Amino acid sequence: MVVEATYDRSTQDVGNILLMEHVNVFVPEQQTAINFYISALGLTRDPYMMVGQDNMWANAGKQQFHLPTRGQQVLRGHIGMEMQDMDALKARLEAAKPLLKGTQYGYTIEVDEVAVTGPWGNKFRCSQGATDGNEMPVAIRYVEFTVPIGTAPGIARFYNEIIQAPSSVIDEAAGNVAHVRMGLSQELRFRETSAELAPYDGHHIAVYLTNFSGPHAFLKERGLITEETNPYQYRFQDIIDLDTGEKLFEIEHEVRSATHPMFQRPLINRNTAQSLQNYQFGRDAIVL
Ligand SMILES: [Fe+2]
Repeated sequence: MVVEATYDRSTQDVGNILLMEHVNVFVPEQQTAINFYISALGLTRDPYMMVGQDNMWANAGKQQFHLPTRGQQVLRGHIGMEMQDMDALKARLEAAKPLLKGTQYGYTIEVDEVAVTGPWGNKFRCSQGATDGNEMPVAIRYVEFTVPIGTAPGIARFYNEIIQAPSSVIDEAAGNVAHVRMGLSQELRFRETSAELAPYDGHHIAVYLTNFSGPHAFLKERGLITEETNPYQYRFQDIIDLDTGEKLFEIEHEVRSATHPMFQRPLINRNTAQSLQNYQFGRDAIVL
């Protein structure tokens, strides 16, 4: 019996990046960071790691923000977030206004998204989270960087051939965007712009790779490894043109193997629907 193919199996291929786990931006002081990431966005402070005033990890589903109290970093682009309940998010954003007065904080409600600017200028776009599959209703779904005109094809090629993450360039109305597939449903995006780009200030992303040594061998041969952290982690930050070696964009990648002790570490996420007025016993955590 011949069974007709009815599915495009390639749509389920994950590629080499298993997960983008965190985005790391320095913050100048923690109280304002708590007001924004915990009170306004509704994320959950990691109760186990970095519990002092010198650093805070804020859980967003299976992802995190790492927020060392060490200065001020602003991601050149924006972070795509999914939220458990958009109406509740809007209420929290409004309630946080007095807490974040005098900072760059603000937000704009759009049709299906809310655009949020953090207290030091980081930008977020929030939309309704998934409630099915094995994804959390809260997530860092993508990170989008703005890059110079003409660099998107070379960036996509670098991720395809060196990182081995499925990548393609889509010609969108506003210009070329390189899309890099990560994990089950995450993306890195590199959007070309003619606008002037801010200098790179050292913020970073952390990713887990299946083939950990392959990209390392290429990057090491070209002197692009910036840190040999430990057996499970290295860093690089230059994305290069594979023909010319020219730097196309700079973003530090904290690269981890799937054998890293923290891979798929369970992260605590609170159910933001809980309140004194509407408390439901046993529903404190978001669980899948
Ligand atoms: Fe990190």
